[in-house]
Amino acid sequence: MPMVTIDGIGIHVSDHGHGHPILFVHGFPLNHTMWNTQITAFSSTHRVIAPDLRGFGRSEVTPGTVSMDRFADDLHALLDTLNISEPVTMCGLSMGGYIAWRFIEKYPQRLRSLILLDTRAAADTPKNAQNRLTLAERILKEGPEPAKDMLPNLVSPRTAQNRPEVLEELQEMILSTSPDGIAAALRGMAERPDSTDLLAEIGIPVLLVVGTDDRLTPPEEMRQLAELIPATDFVEIPEAGHMAPMENPTAVNAAIERFLNRQ
Ligand code: MLT
Repeated sequence: MPMVTIDGIGIHVSDHGHGHPILFVHGFPLNHTMWNTQITAFSSTHRVIAPDLRGFGRSEVTPGTVSMDRFADDLHALLDTLNISEPVTMCGLSMGGYIAWRFIEKYPQRLRSLILLDTRAAADTPKNAQNRLTLAERILKEGPEPAKDMLPNLVSPRTAQNRPEVLEELQEMILSTSPDGIAAALRGMAERPDSTDLLAEIGIPVLLVVGTDDRLTPPEEMRQLAELIPATDFVEIPEAGHMAPMENPTAVNAAIERFLNRQ
């Protein structure tokens, strides 16, 4: 079932395997293929669901602003559309994590556990929010090219040197994304609320994962999150930056597997 209709728009979803469902939520400005290694690894034992969020990949685009709440509502509707009523494990990277905070606040009963990679709970500073709005305007005029400036910060220098194909994949994802989709998510991230107050209330097991060389959401910041969430495991991934699941999939998948096996 590659295409489903949610809220009147077409959402592309990769849905493979059987067993406890894991919902993978991609980062910005990417698509579900960033999880390819995880989809292959976990679909032999789990039902692995990896949508392209609205505006990304092969999903339809809605211009304007797409809030983190809107993305969370889409994911909730997606679970209903796929007839998944048992609580799922949600696994989100970076923007996928921002969406996960909104999801757990609105729909806690739909989650069994949470895996958050390379993300943060804090809102944007006013300066960062303004930079996003400026970038959104540029991208609407010039196309996705300016978003390529993120690339050097997305991976560890070791990945850039030893696995240039990861950077190529990321670049291809960025350049194939609709300018309207990128701009709408930038505006949504700029206005997202601070989720720090939520953390102490989280009553399900949480795994936090961060690449040692992550410059966008550094290990120190993720470690502070781990201290605020009651039932957390914290794993640092060597030889990886912000895109840990693509850069060091062996270590990330082992951490996810250990976490899932304990539930
Ligand atoms: C991401 O990987 O989703 C982005 O780095 C999120 C952001 O721009 O804050």
